[in-house]
Amino acid sequence: MQVLSTIAAVRAARPALGTLGFVPTMGFLHRGHLALVAAAQRDNDAVAVSIFVNPTQFGPHEDLARYPRDLPRDLALLQAAGVALVFTPSVDEIYPPGSSTFVEVGAVSEPSEGARRPGHFRGVATVVATLFNIMAAERAYFGQKDAQQVAVLQQMVRDLAMPTALVVVPTMREADGLAMSSRNVYLDQAQRRAAPALYRALVAAQSAWQGGERHGDTLRAAMLAVLANEPLAQVDYVSVADPVT
Ligand code: PAF
Repeated sequence: MQVLSTIAAVRAARPALGTLGFVPTMGFLHRGHLALVAAAQRDNDAVAVSIFVNPTQFGPHEDLARYPRDLPRDLALLQAAGVALVFTPSVDEIYPPGSSTFVEVGAVSEPSEGARRPGHFRGVATVVATLFNIMAAERAYFGQKDAQQVAVLQQMVRDLAMPTALVVVPTMREADGLAMSSRNVYLDQAQRRAAPALYRALVAAQSAWQGGERHGDTLRAAMLAVLANEPLAQVDYVSVADPVT
């Protein structure tokens, strides 16, 4: 497994890899990331993973400084998984001094997570576009967990005619339904016990949908009713949305 930290080194290594599946990450890997790697292995000759905690997608009061990091453990997991190349750039490598170009995706990036975290999707789209240009992969793999991120990036790839195809991989969950996430380490014991309320809320909406319910407000109310039963849950938003727009 090659571990490279410069764009020049990735460009030099790229031709020997054949068709490439790319998994962009911010590190502190879990089984959700490894499911993306496995999907990429099924479709391509080789798999490349980037590990880069992207500062432009964090708001000023968010968790950039304390975002969990463990590069030695990440590299051991990726080596064991058979990954061919890991790209671990510095911030200056991705955003050279004086860089001033950003990717603004528009309407799909504005509601829900975009409203709660101004600038977040601009940072995500900018870094993913940059990484796509560096890796020149045939396909890139993203988790369905970050549903709006997927919609934003699909719009970006369409609008800018990017040659990398997005592949969306189902959410990996803990036994009690909690979606796997690097940020789950922030939860204390009580919060961890409370967190699967999110999954139960989604299942409540799914059951209502499967029972024929088609009104967004009713589906949202079904989710809010489940979350109201969990005292530690503070709802930012509940969204029933078109997956493309
Ligand atoms: O989903 C993530 O981990 C990040 O948003 C991504 C796509 C790696 C961009 O920094």
